[in-house]
Amino acid sequence: MDKLKQLLKETLEKITRIKDTGALQDLEVKIIGRKGELTNVLRMLKDMPEEERKTFGQEANKTKQALQEAFDEKRASLSSSMMKSALSNIDFDITEPGIREQTGHIHPLAKVQWEVENIFSQMGFAIMDGPEVESEYYNFEGLNIPAHHPARDMQDTFFIDKEPDKKQGRLVLRTHTSPVQVRTMEKYGAPLRVIVPGRVFRYEATDASHDTTFDQVEGLLIDKDISLAHLKGVMEEFLTRLFQREAKVRFRPGYFPFVEPGLELDFSCALCGGGGCKVCKKSGWIEFMGAGMVHENVLKAGGVDPKKYQGWAFGFGLTRLVMMRYAIDDIRLLKSADPRFLKQF
Ligand code: PHE
Repeated sequence: MDKLKQLLKETLEKITRIKDTGALQDLEVKIIGRKGELTNVLRMLKDMPEEERKTFGQEANKTKQALQEAFDEKRASLSSSMMKSALSNIDFDITEPGIREQTGHIHPLAKVQWEVENIFSQMGFAIMDGPEVESEYYNFEGLNIPAHHPARDMQDTFFIDKEPDKKQGRLVLRTHTSPVQVRTMEKYGAPLRVIVPGRVFRYEATDASHDTTFDQVEGLLIDKDISLAHLKGVMEEFLTRLFQREAKVRFRPGYFPFVEPGLELDFSCALCGGGGCKVCKKSGWIEFMGAGMVHENVLKAGGVDPKKYQGWAFGFGLTRLVMMRYAIDDIRLLKSADPRFLKQF
C-alpha cells in the first residue's frame, strides 16, 4: 500500500514538471503502460491472499485511474499551450482568405462518353476498344469496301508511310470506329452486344464543323431473329435517357457498304421536342447517325454464320453530340486545350 501511495505521489510530481508531450508519453508508458510499474504491481495481485487482494486491488485501480486522468489533463494543457505559442510566432494574418486550389475537371467529351457508356451498359452492351492506327483491311476491305470502291473517297484519310502488309494492306488512321465490328466478331463470335467509343480521323479541311480528329460511338448487336425494330427501341431508349426527355427516332434510307439495308437515323429535336426550332432548322428532327443491318460479307469477315445470326450496327458522332448538348459552335474548341473554353464546363 505504501509503495502504491509513493508511486502516485512521485508520478504526479513528475507530471507537473514535464514540459513537452514526448516526455509525458515516455512517463506514461513507464508507469501505466503494458509493462509499466503500476501494471507490474497489479500483476502481483494474483499471488496475494483473498482479503488483501480485495482492498489492495481497489486501491491500485484508483491509483491507476487518478494517474490516467493526470496524464490526460497534462496532455491537453501541453497541446493548447503549444498551439498558443505557435500562433504567437506566426508572422502573417491568419484571418486572411486563402488561395483556392486549382483543380481540374472532366473534359466535356469524356463526360458525355461516360454517360453514353452508362446507358448502354445498363442495356447489356459491353464497351470495346480498338486501335486508332488500323490496317486497311479492317478499316475498308473487312467492311465490304474494296480498294476500287467509290465509298473510299468519302473517307479519304491519313496513311502511315510504311511498307504495306501482304494480307492487311497499308496502315491507316482509322476513319471510323466500324473496324472494331469485325475485330469484335472475330474475337468473341455471336451473340454480341457492344458499343465502341473512340477517336477517328479524316482528311478534312478544318472549319467550325469539320476537324481532322473527332470521336464516334459504334454500336453492334448480333443475335438470332434481330430486326431494325430492335434498333429503333434501343435508340429511343438511349436518347430518351440521355436527354431526359421522350425521344422519337425515324429512319431514312442511307448508303454504307457494310450494311444492307442501310439507313440514316434522325431523332426528334431534344430542344423543341419536334415542334421546330433553330437547332433542328425548323424540321423537328436532328440527323444523328448511320446504321443498318450488318452486311453478310461483314458477318463472314468476322467469322459469324449469316444463316444463323444477323444484327445491326450504327455509328454516331460523339463530338457532335457533345456540341449539341453544350451548344458549342466550333468543333475545333474541343481539342484546343484552351482554358478559357474548358473552364466553362
Ligand atoms: N461508319 C459510318 C461512318 O463513319 C457510320 C456507320 C456505322 C454506318 C455503322 C452504318 C453502320 O459514317
